[in-house]
Amino acid sequence: MPGSDVPTWLIEIPGLAAVLFIVLTGLVALVLVTLFVIDVVQRKNAIRHNYPLIGRLRYLLIHLGAFLRQYLFAMDREERPFNRAQRDAVDQASRLRDNTVGFGSTRRVEEEGAILFANAAFASLSEQAKTADPVEIGPHCRNPYLAPSFFNISAMSYGAISKPAVRALSLGAAQAACWLNTGEGGLAPYHLEGGCDVVFQIGTAKYGVRDGKGGLDIDRLKAVAAHDSVRMIEVKLAQGAKPGKGGILPGAKVTPEIAEIRGIPVGQDSISPNRHLEIADVTELLDFLARIREATGKPTGFKTVIGDPAWLDELCSAAAKRPDDAPDFITVDSADGGSGAAPQPLIDYVGLLVRESLPLTVDALKRTHLRDRVKVIASGKLITASPVAWALAAGADFVNSARGFMFALGCIQAMRCHLNTCPTGVTTHSKRRQAALDPQDKAVRVANYVATIRDEVGIIAHSCGVPDPRHLERRHIRVMTETGRTVAFDSLFPELSE
Ligand SMILES: Cc1cc2nc3c(=O)[nH]c(=O)nc-3n(C[C@H](O)[C@H](O)[C@H](O)COP(=O)(O)O)c2cc1C
Repeated sequence: MPGSDVPTWLIEIPGLAAVLFIVLTGLVALVLVTLFVIDVVQRKNAIRHNYPLIGRLRYLLIHLGAFLRQYLFAMDREERPFNRAQRDAVDQASRLRDNTVGFGSTRRVEEEGAILFANAAFASLSEQAKTADPVEIGPHCRNPYLAPSFFNISAMSYGAISKPAVRALSLGAAQAACWLNTGEGGLAPYHLEGGCDVVFQIGTAKYGVRDGKGGLDIDRLKAVAAHDSVRMIEVKLAQGAKPGKGGILPGAKVTPEIAEIRGIPVGQDSISPNRHLEIADVTELLDFLARIREATGKPTGFKTVIGDPAWLDELCSAAAKRPDDAPDFITVDSADGGSGAAPQPLIDYVGLLVRESLPLTVDALKRTHLRDRVKVIASGKLITASPVAWALAAGADFVNSARGFMFALGCIQAMRCHLNTCPTGVTTHSKRRQAALDPQDKAVRVANYVATIRDEVGIIAHSCGVPDPRHLERRHIRVMTETGRTVAFDSLFPELSE
């Protein structure tokens, strides 16, 4: 401006502001693009991989939640089926993070039914601690199984869960020296890939071992059992989430490969019969188990959820009369067990909880002097050390978990297993979403999770004054009553001698 006193740089400000704006926008865009690329390329975190940038908000909110919780609501112990405290515990365990917490417990220990352990006045010394011994299953078989781990991977079929999930579980189980149950979808090459011990499950559709009429093709079963890794055969009568209903695999999840392994049409809903055609009573069950054991030479048992407790006496009395044909193991699943897909009325209302059915099963076996012969495996929300310790103390020889291992694989409980849209790649066959699940990385988490559970159950055992988890007994458990006093678990379910 001729004759004006205004400095020239000020006159040029509009231009400068525009330049600054462009530079800043460019920088922000560069940062966002860089973060986007980092998120997509990394495979340690499934949510960030599948939802680059936006996924970061989840972790920001989780982080801020710790500080804002008191102003909003305490979700730590509220969510179901698993609350945040439980999910975090598995996550921490799978990363071998320190389990030390500060300030105090957020668990509602005073609630009726809450379980507490009775610590000894003089705890076992760390030097006296020992690891839990392996336990033999199927002593009368041609190939008994000396099972090394009391904590193992429960049945989840290839189909319900994804290929990378099965691969990670197989590799992780091998590292942890625990078993992996195939679930009812047949034996996939990915189950064998890691070289772990495998339990082959026969569901009502007999996927992979079915004859032309829907019955058991014993030669196909022999071929499966011929794999050295296949250590036991589990006949699935029922699972806790859907007793009386067979497996359900929605058509969206029936890929050509899964159809091939199961022997079913591609893309169509695969609904298993709601019970084994050849098993309508206890005698037929024992016949079926004996036939499989004879053909495969491997320990053979069954999985079920207990409904009428009287049935246990019927089973055990029949088995006691023909002990050679008794099941080598019984897997007792809880009514609140998980599923890839189950009808709402069954998932919510049918069956007994493992809290009751486990001690009932153990006692029925003891009354018929079968307890040594028949090993008991418990499952159903036993995903952290304390409920695992409870199950061992209540009488289980082994504990299985499905959803605990899903959390170790990165599951965030989005509850979309039946929709093929799992955001973390665990239960989807979408290649894009699966890319977030790196089997090698997650295998380490699976192994860490098992190691931590073993270690933490050991800590509870030592606090109770016994040298290892297998020495926990019912007298070590106390149950909170409405009066605020606890009662001994063995007053509810007295410990029977054999
Ligand atoms: C995704 C998914 C798939 C499952 N598939 C099977 C199966 O094929 N056969 C079976 O007997 N149970 C199956 N289950 C049940 C589990 O093996 C287990 O009994 C139940 O979830 C309880 O254990 P949890 O509470 O640790 O999950 C499945 C569970 C889930 C979550």
